[in-house]
Amino acid sequence: MWPDTRLCELLGIEHPVIQAPMAGTTTPAMVAAVSNAGGLGSHGCATLSPEKLAEDMEALAGATNRSVNLNFFCHEPQEISEDHHAALIEAMRPHYEAAGAPLPDEMPAPSFQPFRQAQLDCLLARPPAVVSFHFGLPEDAAVRALKDKGCKILSSATTVAEARWLAERGVDAIIAQGWESGGHRGLFLELENDAQVGLFSLLPQVVDAVDVPVIAAGGIADGRGIAAAFALGAAGVQIGTAFITADEAHRKPHHPEAVGLGTDESTRVTRAGSGRPARAHRTPWIDAMAQVDAAPFPLMYHYSRPLLAADGPAHQFSLYGQSAALAPSGNAGERLTALVAAAMAAMGR
Ligand SMILES: Cc1cc2nc3c(=O)[nH]c(=O)nc-3n(C[C@H](O)[C@H](O)[C@H](O)COP(=O)(O)O)c2cc1C
Repeated sequence: MWPDTRLCELLGIEHPVIQAPMAGTTTPAMVAAVSNAGGLGSHGCATLSPEKLAEDMEALAGATNRSVNLNFFCHEPQEISEDHHAALIEAMRPHYEAAGAPLPDEMPAPSFQPFRQAQLDCLLARPPAVVSFHFGLPEDAAVRALKDKGCKILSSATTVAEARWLAERGVDAIIAQGWESGGHRGLFLELENDAQVGLFSLLPQVVDAVDVPVIAAGGIADGRGIAAAFALGAAGVQIGTAFITADEAHRKPHHPEAVGLGTDESTRVTRAGSGRPARAHRTPWIDAMAQVDAAPFPLMYHYSRPLLAADGPAHQFSLYGQSAALAPSGNAGERLTALVAAAMAAMGR
């Protein structure tokens, strides 16, 4: 049925269509629905405590016996200097004053940590079929321990150099993440890299550069996009934005409205929300922050979150990609089924 079945065989799935992990948006119900419909459901676990991770793994085990993917971040925690903190507080002051919210003028405490032992222990106790990472990979020993338990390992590359780096470290497949993508850019080799590599350019060059299967991500939201990805050499696709408003998704109050308004031009890549470049709904605040040196990820949340909480519509940090307008509707399983049917039609299969 599919022109390339390498990913189906590797990950134990019927359709090489991955619902992207989206921390704060995906739920066990959503992930299970996609896996039960024959795709690969992925849960964004980066911000979950080990206790909540174990709880969600239990819920997933009760809702599907198919392959699922659990996803984590591998950022390197950084600090912020007092001078940088003071400059940021001054830059943020007018926005907080306009929103009538108290400035977070104390120095930030460390917030969520990258993938670590407590999370690894949860995974080793109940190994999922697939574990994926954003912002690189954890240390080699963790990757080896997961592989020894039979987990397949995926990670995102935003450049050919990152794809080669991942392939050299033994990942089973690489997600080529184009500039169109919603959410955080997975970049990790050069944090200041502003290269804007679109998927049509990135995908075939990554396919040529590595021997493992390549999964296309970024701007794919209908059958035509899936067909195009396969034509460019992808062995599968990873789709985020087209699932954000699925019935089972965790609803942030402002999120569905922002995504519903999404056009090709309605997003910007910004560091203002978290400190790392991420594609989000364009707001006046995001425009104003373009000239401000953000705090390192994830410390920037300390400066942005109270503002976002105080005044959603003007300052929202709503992550989605450039193809929101193409997204299907319905629950997550229906969306997966519709995407597969549309892909088959577009590929004449
Ligand atoms: C709301 C949102 C949250 C995301 N969170 C994560 C995440 O936690 N981990 C991850 O690996 N990728 C995350 N991504 C990126 C996706 O994995 C994927 O690269 C992207 O959604 C593909 O582009 P598309 O949104 O145009 O489909 C997120 C994307 C969105 C839209």
